[in-house]
Amino acid sequence: MATVHPLPLPEPVAEDRPVLVLDLGGQYAQLIARRVRDARVYSELVPHTLTADEARRRNPVAIILSGGPASVYAEGAPQIDMELLALGIPTLGICYGAQLMARELGGEVARTGISEFGKTELEDGAGALFTGLPPQQTVWMSHRDTVVAPPVGAIVTGRSASTPVAAFEDPARRLYGVQFHPEVVHTPYGQDVLKNFLYGVADAPPAWTPAAVIEDQVERIRAQVGSERVICGLSGGVDSAVAALLVYKAVGDQLTCVFVDHGFMRSNEAEQVAATFGGHFQVPLVHVQAQDRFLARLAGVDEPEEKRRRIGEEFIRVFEEEARKLSHSERQSEIRFLVQGTLYSDVIESGGTEGVAAKIKSHHNVGGLPEDMAMSLVEPLRLLFKDEVRRVGEELGMPERMVWRQPFPGPGLAIRIIGEVTRERLDILRAADTVLQEEVRRAGLYRDLWQSFAVLPAIKSVGVQGDERTYAYPIVIRAVTSEDAMTADWARLPYDLLESISSRIINEIPGVNRVALDISSKPPSTIEWE
Ligand code: XMP
Repeated sequence: MATVHPLPLPEPVAEDRPVLVLDLGGQYAQLIARRVRDARVYSELVPHTLTADEARRRNPVAIILSGGPASVYAEGAPQIDMELLALGIPTLGICYGAQLMARELGGEVARTGISEFGKTELEDGAGALFTGLPPQQTVWMSHRDTVVAPPVGAIVTGRSASTPVAAFEDPARRLYGVQFHPEVVHTPYGQDVLKNFLYGVADAPPAWTPAAVIEDQVERIRAQVGSERVICGLSGGVDSAVAALLVYKAVGDQLTCVFVDHGFMRSNEAEQVAATFGGHFQVPLVHVQAQDRFLARLAGVDEPEEKRRRIGEEFIRVFEEEARKLSHSERQSEIRFLVQGTLYSDVIESGGTEGVAAKIKSHHNVGGLPEDMAMSLVEPLRLLFKDEVRRVGEELGMPERMVWRQPFPGPGLAIRIIGEVTRERLDILRAADTVLQEEVRRAGLYRDLWQSFAVLPAIKSVGVQGDERTYAYPIVIRAVTSEDAMTADWARLPYDLLESISSRIINEIPGVNRVALDISSKPPSTIEWE
């Protein structure tokens, strides 16, 4: 079960009246929170141990109980404070959440021996959740136990061939339950069911818009920072860029951005950052050319974790030097605040979770806080999921290319060269990556892919070009689809596209005589090669 680290309860949130999504251990809890926000209603993921008192203090506009992997009868199955259901707050139970409601409120949950996994036809959909929707529709099920009698006082508002109670509602107590998963794409009307609950039942206004987020954050940043100076490390990625623009909008020239160019960026990326921030938005920007320093630090190193460690360390050193210079420059006061692009998913997953991902690779976030720097953090993206960050970026007028840029790891191309990082290999990889990006964009697939990139394993193989024998590097194409990078599938790129990528890379880039395609999913592979 995912361990949830909610925002501390007393902390004021952007919206006074959130939808609280109780995480009962299902893989879909975070997805539910995101779908609620897609409906423009602010939501927060909270642990299932939330008490009725805590809930009352948060004054939620609605509560959603997520699905869970457990059986309600299993030992140690996650429970909730049943008083939550007596608060009169509109509450929707999904799958396990609905079963908990039924079991606790006088209904019945049985192990019928018939499981339902996958697409099912829901019949006789009626009541508030199905207003305006076809009474028969396809829904996604994933359960073993089955609600055979709804809570006392509730009426059945949907069934399927093997589930007598696929949906129920008790409008008087404002309790609703569905056995299926409205949050997944395999339930085509799922988002409409959620909207019916949010708008129709809970009367929650769709007010969580990018413009509202910006307004709210600008106010908060001003309140936090006052007239002090702020520094922000730009990485070239969308998160730090949006965070910086929000802070700039709030406090203008009190902000200085520092862009440490470690030389492992893709082609033109550094120039784009400089042009966008320094040029277009006129944000005070220090562009540190540190390519040689980083390359020197990586000489002779081929172990992935050691590469990451050295890059991280060097980054902090350079960043600190610049911060010190800025702080001690004449006529300027000391810098007291550091901007970080922490996202809501980091907040949920951080704080000592024994996450598998965290252990596989030590993710170094370029722009991270040097440990002994005495600065307070400004984290304007702390409440946002990645797609919301993008929408805020668009609203702030960031160029499309930057807003929709595929994720790129902090250590950049250095962890896509398998072996020692040298200038020659960097040049080859950068050129190959450029070809790949151009072709993927030309095919109109850039935004459909979570990531697409080239990898250079530092081995050589034999080829023949013209009449000559060659002995050169291979390039590996890696393209994946993913929702959140925790899992990923290799993308089925069209053969024509693969052909043009391959022939262009081999023909245009000296030093490459072979192109291979990575057809591994995650798990068991990871997205990056190192
Ligand atoms: P993996 O390779 O673990 O990557 O499947 C998952 C996602 O994280 C990105 N990634 C990194 N990001 N610093 C970062 O800022 C890193 O060291 C790093 N390593 C991987 C990767 O690109 C993918 O989106």
